[in-house]
Amino acid sequence: MKDYATPKTSTRGEPGENPVEFFKTRRNGLGPLRLEREHRVYADAGGKSLKEIGKGPVIEGDTGPIKSRDREAGGGGGGANFHKRLGPEDFGKSLRQGVAAVRRNMFIVLLLTCATNILILAIPIYLFQISDRVLTSRSVDTLIMLTIVIVGAVVMQAVFDAIRRFILMRTAVEVAVRLGAPTLSAAAHASLHGTGREYQTLGDLQQLRGFLTSGTLISFLDVPFAPLFFLAIFLVHPHLGMIVTIASLLLLVIAICNQKITAKPFANANQAQSKANMHLDSMARNSQIINALAMIPEAVMIWGRDTATSLTEQVRAQDRNIMSAAFSRMVRLLTQIGMLGWGAWLALAGEITGGMVIAASIIAGRALAPVEGSIEGWNGFLLSRAAYDRVAKLLRSSKVQFERLHLPRPEGRLDVERLLYVPGGTKQVVLNGLSFSLNPGETLGVIGNSGAGKTTLGRMLVGSILPTSGNVRLDLMDLRNWDPRQFGENIGYVPQDVQLFPGTIKQNIGRMRPDATDEQIHAAATLADVHEMIASLPQGYETLVAADGSPLSGGQKQRIALARAFFGNPRFVVLDEPNSNLDTSGDKALARAIQHAKENKITVVVITQKPSLLSVVDKIMLLADGSISMFGERIEVLTRLTGKKAPPNKMPQQQSGNQISKGGVNNG
Ligand SMILES: Nc1ncnc2c1ncn2[C@@H]1O[C@H](COP(=O)(O)OP(=O)(O)OP(=O)(O)O)[C@@H](O)[C@H]1O
Ligand SMILES: [Mg+2]
Repeated sequence: MKDYATPKTSTRGEPGENPVEFFKTRRNGLGPLRLEREHRVYADAGGKSLKEIGKGPVIEGDTGPIKSRDREAGGGGGGANFHKRLGPEDFGKSLRQGVAAVRRNMFIVLLLTCATNILILAIPIYLFQISDRVLTSRSVDTLIMLTIVIVGAVVMQAVFDAIRRFILMRTAVEVAVRLGAPTLSAAAHASLHGTGREYQTLGDLQQLRGFLTSGTLISFLDVPFAPLFFLAIFLVHPHLGMIVTIASLLLLVIAICNQKITAKPFANANQAQSKANMHLDSMARNSQIINALAMIPEAVMIWGRDTATSLTEQVRAQDRNIMSAAFSRMVRLLTQIGMLGWGAWLALAGEITGGMVIAASIIAGRALAPVEGSIEGWNGFLLSRAAYDRVAKLLRSSKVQFERLHLPRPEGRLDVERLLYVPGGTKQVVLNGLSFSLNPGETLGVIGNSGAGKTTLGRMLVGSILPTSGNVRLDLMDLRNWDPRQFGENIGYVPQDVQLFPGTIKQNIGRMRPDATDEQIHAAATLADVHEMIASLPQGYETLVAADGSPLSGGQKQRIALARAFFGNPRFVVLDEPNSNLDTSGDKALARAIQHAKENKITVVVITQKPSLLSVVDKIMLLADGSISMFGERIEVLTRLTGKKAPPNKMPQQQSGNQISKGGVNNG
């Protein structure tokens, strides 16, 4: 038994038994850093190691008796794979396949429902036979035979009913398996240009799954068989048939009225609830600020207001719903009473027997029950339909990710042509016709005032936003035409506000890739000059980082992000103010990292407000109001900026303060 509390200080831990560890490392005697890994957190991969699976982690759901016919077909998680390197990702196709699978299962369920409903008729028939045949003829043999038949029918009915519920449950799992990965992928793609609500579509998928296993769906499925029961009652006596038909029409009217009077309050309630949930999300993200600025009462109040609205509306809707349900239950019971009463009167007149009356009443109860169930579950149905619409819209509107040619490894030549960016819905020109080029291995420093458009340019260079017009080319190929996965592997990016993923430092540097080798991680850390810093942490590379970045400091986070940018030996790296939180030694380490990158022929674009970094760059660009105000060799630009020749390889310490101010520009 291993001691879970023992801190790990090297990358060569014993086979990890720590339950919070993603990776299991194992010595295999092939050298200090050759380790085998297995992935442990992803959903059940059938006990196979990642290597065996080969294609990456898998969501496997137990679909039980349902055969998966076209699991392999289609990309984008059309199968059960999270990500396929190559191959078109067509989320619309995943949706179509998912819907087809549900339809297929529903067809089987419908057949079973049909059988169940027919077999249900066995009980009233039995009753009717006993009272009208057995009791009058006093035949024990008939009774025994009838009982054997009815027991068989009831057992079969129970089995069929269970099977259809099993299938529905597995259909729900099938939906989650087929659409989960495509929905998440599509949400991630859409979130680039969207409102940030795309990830909530995953919740919609859950709603859909819940509906598939709900009693409401069973009621919906049973409703079409009600006419069969009506027919049986008509056969008993047309008068009784008329009673039950009128009752069912009345129930239908109640259902429609119920839908009309509850739709609006339910919609309001859901809207308020999702607002409250969004607020809760933002509270979780800003927990530090909320506590520090003592904003808890306000935060709770905002949440409370939305929740109260939601609850009020829900009460209003549920009140109406309960009233409708009570009314429809009353109608159903009155119908049964009416049938018994009228039946008895008919029996007195000698038109039917007593057994027939009771049997007809039972059948009527059975026919009207699903109608009542449908009324009660109507809101769930509406919610699920809206949820399906959102999932379908997301998947359908996702662009097909075509299979792209796998290009040779880029050299790092960057060409930017007439780059224009006007954010959607605004008329503000953030970037105005930028054009420049960098040769492989060149380093560009981008400077400029706040709001000049530096971050926007950086994001455009790594393809995280698309230009309104113009092109960014890496090795002559437009970013939009690179295979996204290959492009991502060949670039590095440190965003202005660094976020790490919950996991170990090792995983964060390795971009959460299960196939990241220790050599690669170590090489990235060395290239970014952070190995020493990581080594000084008590648990080294195995230090667990929380979602908010603790226990790392802001500067440490930035340096880990730098190593992440250099992971996998990229050919082009964009660093957006990577030294905003760094101390002098961190600054020096960053300068060394850029120097290393230069030696390794990595093209680097570094955005900075601090002049100290400019000593290591080859070229400098000064952005002002979204346009290039100066661009050229370092010395040339610095000379123009400071008005005199700056000594080579020294930072322009003569500049006023630590920031490059607009004043400095005008002096130039
Ligand atoms: N999606 C957007 N919608 C509207 N305006 C935007 C959008 N993105 C950026 N901007 C605007 O573009 C301008 C440039 O922003 P950017 O973040 O690139 O500045 P920056 O040079 O990086 O500033 P800082 O030095 O403060 O980081 C800002 O005025 C900002 O308001
Ligand atoms: Mg910025």
